[in-house]
Amino acid sequence: MSRSAHPAGPRHADVLPEGHYSAPPADLNALDPKVWARTVTRTPEGVVSVGGIEVTRLAEEFGTPAYFVDEADFRARCRAWREAFGSEADVFYAGKAFLSRAVVRWLHEEGLNLDVCSGGELATALAAGMPAENIAFHGNNKTPAEIERAVEAGVGRIVLDSFQEIARVAHIAERLGRRQRVQIRVTVGVEAHTHEFIATAHEDQKFGIALAGGQAAEAVRRALKLDGLELIGIHSHIGSQIFDMAGFEVSARRVVQLLAEVRDEHGVELPEIDLGGGLGIAYTSDDDPREPHEIAEALNEIVARECAAAGLRKPRISVEPGRAIVGPTAFTLYEVGTVKPLEGLRTYVSVDGGMSDNIRTALYDAEYTVALVSRSSDAEPMLVRVVGKHCESGDIVVRDAFLPADLAPGDLIAVPATGAYCRSMASNYNHALRPPVVAVDDGAARVIVRRETEEDLLRLDVG
Ligand code: LLP
Repeated sequence: MSRSAHPAGPRHADVLPEGHYSAPPADLNALDPKVWARTVTRTPEGVVSVGGIEVTRLAEEFGTPAYFVDEADFRARCRAWREAFGSEADVFYAGKAFLSRAVVRWLHEEGLNLDVCSGGELATALAAGMPAENIAFHGNNKTPAEIERAVEAGVGRIVLDSFQEIARVAHIAERLGRRQRVQIRVTVGVEAHTHEFIATAHEDQKFGIALAGGQAAEAVRRALKLDGLELIGIHSHIGSQIFDMAGFEVSARRVVQLLAEVRDEHGVELPEIDLGGGLGIAYTSDDDPREPHEIAEALNEIVARECAAAGLRKPRISVEPGRAIVGPTAFTLYEVGTVKPLEGLRTYVSVDGGMSDNIRTALYDAEYTVALVSRSSDAEPMLVRVVGKHCESGDIVVRDAFLPADLAPGDLIAVPATGAYCRSMASNYNHALRPPVVAVDDGAARVIVRRETEEDLLRLDVG
């Protein structure tokens, strides 16, 4: 890269300020397929397209900011997970990553099940026609009304998270004259290598019942005694955005050990285990996620080995990927509003969205990349921070990245890998209107979640 100062930006080549970046990419116009949805390409004219439609046209039709999801990629990822795990396992997509009626239909058509964790997600799943038996209901504090709705609907399983909930679900099921299939969520004591806020299987946190101290064994004892419950297995989820399979290995081993203890104590072989979700995706070119078939092979092998050692039949396995399915399939499209070079530091690029459409950078220090997508550019790289329009200096979308130094107001830029936990965690902070989600496939684009309007905001404001 040139060592000369650039008029449009700070002199980033001499002394780069502290940040998460490495060197600027060799070609700023290149789109790394690791982080972009599958049908995303740059046309010979330099405009980026998805599903065969140029982003300039998408911006005109749907406005910005907006999330664009590559439907073919979403479906292909569903199939890859389904095929990798085969008929002896179940794949439950974790709806918290992103859920809408269209997504529920895609999942069902591609043979996936669905994990929901609230009454709202359950309602969306049922409204879109997901058969109740293909739904797993999660959560550490399901309300009695939510439990009742789930039992009445006939969900395939409720994942029990506490001693109170064991009694609560049993009571409600008995009252409704049902026997509810349940799993018990255990905490296996694994601290996944991920951000502290999203590691969930170590013991000092709110989810599940600890294996330690015989708590989980006691939970099984109680569940087996209750007429309203049919205990089908044990569940463990160790965290999110994990690349290292070692945590899953320990978790699977400990869950199988519990199955062996249950067999020894009660003479019952529980038929299922669920190893949760949490598989990492590439947010930047530095990330190297595993393919579904590698994950399936690793998990199957661990479980088979541990079961053989314990003299158990191999249980049916289920997994709950959310991010790994939807994350890479979408990007957020923004229009550049202002470009503010800070001499000796970096250039702040303000876009028309921000922490209301992507809270992950502010909340988890998440890393993203960004590209100029409405045109290509041969200008030299400029160190940027992409920020939103909210009244808060922590309103950062991409902390450290490079964009061409000729970037100007009116350019469109896109942040890839925003399919998971962006729209689903979007807020109305500063009365922002949450962006639409547009599905693009084979030359056609359609809104699957519409943009919020000021009327939507005012409708809730009844004072
Ligand atoms: N199963 C259970 C029981 C979970 O709690 C979760 C995520 C998943 C499956 C799906 O995990 P995934 O495959 O998507 O990593 N908001 C955070 C992530 C929170 C994950 C919560 N539970 C983020 O933006 O990184």
